[in-house]
Amino acid sequence: PPLAYFKQELPIPPVARPSNDLDGDDEPLYEMNLENIKHNFHPDLPATNMWGFNGIFPGPTIEAEIRNPVKVDWNNRLSTVHPLGYAIDPTLSHGEIGELPAVRAVIHNHGLHVVNTSDGLPHDWVTPGNTLHYRYPNHGGATNWYHDHTHGVTRLNVYAGLAGFYLIRTPGVAEELGLPTGKYDIPLLLQDKFFNKDGSLYYPTTGHGQFPIWVSDMEADTPVLNGKVAPYLKVEPRKYRFRLLNGATYRQWSLHFQEDNLNFTQVASDGGFLPAPVVVREVPLGVAERAEVVVDFSGFEGRSIILRNNAGAHESDAADLPELMRFDVLRHAKPHDLAPIPSQLPFTPIPPCIHKYRTLTLSEENETYLINSRPFSAPLEIRPVVNTTEIWRIINLSDETHPIHVHLGEFKLIKRCPFDTERWVRDGKPDYIEPYIQGPCGHHQGVRPGETGHKDVFLHLAHTVTIIKMPFNTYTGMYVMHCHKLEHEDNDMMRPLEVIEGDI
Ligand code: C2O
Ligand code: CU
Repeated sequence: PPLAYFKQELPIPPVARPSNDLDGDDEPLYEMNLENIKHNFHPDLPATNMWGFNGIFPGPTIEAEIRNPVKVDWNNRLSTVHPLGYAIDPTLSHGEIGELPAVRAVIHNHGLHVVNTSDGLPHDWVTPGNTLHYRYPNHGGATNWYHDHTHGVTRLNVYAGLAGFYLIRTPGVAEELGLPTGKYDIPLLLQDKFFNKDGSLYYPTTGHGQFPIWVSDMEADTPVLNGKVAPYLKVEPRKYRFRLLNGATYRQWSLHFQEDNLNFTQVASDGGFLPAPVVVREVPLGVAERAEVVVDFSGFEGRSIILRNNAGAHESDAADLPELMRFDVLRHAKPHDLAPIPSQLPFTPIPPCIHKYRTLTLSEENETYLINSRPFSAPLEIRPVVNTTEIWRIINLSDETHPIHVHLGEFKLIKRCPFDTERWVRDGKPDYIEPYIQGPCGHHQGVRPGETGHKDVFLHLAHTVTIIKMPFNTYTGMYVMHCHKLEHEDNDMMRPLEVIEGDI
């Protein structure tokens, strides 16, 4: 029988403590141990052997302050047996994945701007017994997350448990704005999992096209929030701030409440605050996207409210997961929480100056999804110059949505337009594509109000062109961009990108 919902309280991952004392002018140093752990997803399920950080899943939340650098030692203390070793496809990357040790890991801090030697790039993995010494300068306040990024096995390593929150706070700002703080500020990691009867995680191995084991999509049958199957949370009838993160491998969510007067006031997205709060009925979240929302439970005293998911599964035979968790609203409010949600938020727009236009494609070729029709290992073609801003016109020639993420990039979504991909291909893929954009498309130009802030990942819809504006203002060197559906990312839907010195 399926696992019963709403059986256990939502846990809040504990905040990580630095290992050094901070009397001097030392930077905080965190020891984060990648470990084999036993974790309880549900009271009716035996404990699960999986991976975590410092003994727990999700890993402890690292809370940094803006412009105060921290160091993290990511210590790979995993055993040499992968809990999902059976799902490794040795044929990926032309057989390269079969030659590599099964257990290897590298941690990328998604949303941070760092030198590439601290970025956790796909080839920077280490085997058990080794450590990655990373340093994060913490440029901007935001809800970020750390997760595995190992070439060819990211989907399995993240699914096995290598994920956690990394928050950058700007001291005093939440208080100044009257946003809920402390226990009213809750990170919410959304994932889906399959379980075997013995409690172990199950990951499908049916293969796809010429790949014997790799699957192109994975939508599991059980919602897991902060590591628990469909939990409940007792809330006071007041405002809460939720930091929503889609940490699934593939699945897209769209959160909503059925109650008429219960909305989300979205205040932030991937890269921090929006220009102004937006009230929305529904919050769509592609893989790796974040949304910070304020939910006001006042007026719902004594009621139980289900957090629902309107996004059906992509595959028709996969479960839709319409219910995710339950909020049980207590009867009595404590006498505070009088502050209204502010009408303006601290937001810095991206400067308007543009130096280069670039056209990129997403496509499906021979059962594989590709960027610019090239595999990950093909020679580099994306070379922005540091201290310039580029406009990227990304054309999705495939029949599927791809959450596209650019490392180092924090961009503005300019517009999404339906695009005649067949004609564009027929006309020989002209670099100058404006005439092919059937243009102005709707009054939001296809960009939702919740997407008007700084983004680092966005949902790219099938047969559209999406235009983004992206400054490269920090570091030079090799990084990557990729689809954040981890199944796609692991099978070549990733390209290197190099930020170079150069004349404008
Ligand atoms: Cu969230 Cu390249 O990763
Ligand atoms: Cu994709």
